[in-house]
Amino acid sequence: MKRAKISIIGAGNVGATCAHWCAAAELGDIVLLDIPATETMPAGKALDLMQSSPIFSFDSNVVGTTDYADTAGSDVVVITAGIPRKPGMSRDDLLGTNAKIMTSVCEEIKKSSPDSIIIVVSNPLDAMVQRALQVTGFPSKRVLGQAGVLDTARYRTFLAMELGVSVEDVSALLMGGHGDTMVPMPSCTSVGGIPVTRLLERDKLEAIVDRARKGGAEIVGLLKTGSAYYAPAAATAQMVEAIVRDKKRLIPCAAYCQEEYGVGGYYVGVPIILGANGVEKIVVLDLDEQEQADFQKSVDAVKELVGVMAGLTG
Ligand code: NAI
Ligand code: 2OP
Repeated sequence: MKRAKISIIGAGNVGATCAHWCAAAELGDIVLLDIPATETMPAGKALDLMQSSPIFSFDSNVVGTTDYADTAGSDVVVITAGIPRKPGMSRDDLLGTNAKIMTSVCEEIKKSSPDSIIIVVSNPLDAMVQRALQVTGFPSKRVLGQAGVLDTARYRTFLAMELGVSVEDVSALLMGGHGDTMVPMPSCTSVGGIPVTRLLERDKLEAIVDRARKGGAEIVGLLKTGSAYYAPAAATAQMVEAIVRDKKRLIPCAAYCQEEYGVGGYYVGVPIILGANGVEKIVVLDLDEQEQADFQKSVDAVKELVGVMAGLTG
């Protein structure tokens, strides 16, 4: 069987770590592309990763490059190119710089991998994935963004820590944009099949929801020099796996919603079925009044951001 070709654009913290997880899980052959100050950096990281293959026993090939020709014909392209935030910055502060980077990267992908499925990671996520759709003109089911898997993983981690249970038993959903207005969904959260509301008092649950919402900023505050990358890269690798192994995972991702949830043509985090064709289905839930109000607030924040991006040149 032909191995999948996975290109990762941006060989920084998230990109290189994502390459690591994808290679270790033998999801396919990997091309790591960057345009760094030191031109050989992607080749160095790729070779270093390859040299871990005898230890971890994986047969994925990993190459590093600065040339899009090496990415040609990719099945999946992950975009992590861009600047990360530093303490005091919000994801939205990255908009101008990263929108320009996203445009140039997507122009190249459109030419070199016209049949690929694109997973955008760069921030501000919901605006960047909208830009990727605009520039490539790919069908929306082949352009999606990573946020919900990470945000849900944070929420699940905090719940497991609070309850003293295995993270494996915590199942949860989180919707909305990848920002401070994201919407954790206690009504769709269970632990060993038990609704979380039967295990945790309301104020404890609300504190956990709030911590999940601010999970990215918490890591930025600790790292001081950049943002999170282990969990973001793992979340992205899980999406790559869902596609290359056609797993039909039901997970939250930033997907293009038109009539779904009444969003009207924007990317926002919703539960989807992710498989070999990309976004195979957007799962539409009946939200209760509070969830609908919180979700709408988050959609409005995404719309505002996309509006600001449209007003920028480049
Ligand atoms: P980083 O600074 O470690 O890596 C970014 C890389 O992009 C650098 O190596 C840089 O040379 C490269 N780059 C810049 N312009 C490029 C271009 N035109 N073509 C190719 N490569 C280019 O940053 P890190 O930590 O890897 O974060 C990357 C992005 O991902 C940031 O925008 C960050 O905010 C975002 N992010 C998003 C998350 C999410 O859940 N959606 C989670 C974590 C990070
Ligand atoms: C995060 O949530 C910065 O978006 C990134 O960690």
